[in-house]
Amino acid sequence: MNPVLEALNFRHACKQFEPGREIPEETLREIMACAHLSPSSFGLEPWKFLVIRDDALRQRLRPACWNQAQITDSSAVVVILARSETLKAGQEYVRQGFARKGLDESQMETALARFQGHQESEVLPRMSLYAWASKQCYIALANILSAAASVGVDSCPIEGFEKQAVDEVLELEKTDFETAVVVALGYRAGEQTPRYRYDFDSIVEFR
Ligand SMILES: Cc1cc2nc3c(=O)[nH]c(=O)nc-3n(C[C@H](O)[C@H](O)[C@H](O)COP(=O)(O)O)c2cc1C
Repeated sequence: MNPVLEALNFRHACKQFEPGREIPEETLREIMACAHLSPSSFGLEPWKFLVIRDDALRQRLRPACWNQAQITDSSAVVVILARSETLKAGQEYVRQGFARKGLDESQMETALARFQGHQESEVLPRMSLYAWASKQCYIALANILSAAASVGVDSCPIEGFEKQAVDEVLELEKTDFETAVVVALGYRAGEQTPRYRYDFDSIVEFR
């Protein structure tokens, strides 16, 4: 079988992790290397990944995440943080993002103008910069889920949290970041819940 499909068949949203079973450091780093390689709009990498293994911090995070047991029973919790205001056209972070590509002055001007035009006509009329960055964070989330599954590590994506409370626990107030989404990683305890999917042909349309 295609190894990606095989990994995706293994993956499910793990509700019950085996407490105390740790993901080896090297495996965790490999999973995060897959997050790090995720694509992003204009290559701006509008994220940061907090890998939290510390038990005390996870205990404090849990009430902010609907008290979900995966936060403390898993081996590690990855909080994917999204940039917001630093992604606005004209901001230094944006300029640096383009500058590292080795563009000359006129190429820089063209790239920055295209970025600004796209942001003003396509992004901001529809969503906040936080929402735009978060959409991209979910690509990294998918890569984490798939990478973990490919090495037999279970995961649970978690959107069931109070954002403000999570931001406070992680002391994000004075940073450039806000919480986008959370993912718990570890090893399943026992049988998993059945998988439900609508029929392939009702979801996938070829034209
Ligand atoms: C963005 C997102 C947020 C989710 N949040 C939670 C959550 O907070 N708690 C939870 O137990 N499952 C959560 N899930 C898991 C979904 O319930 C699960 O993916 C869905 O029911 C399909 O099941 P499967 O992933 O096992 O195939 C989330 C999934 C996604 C993609």
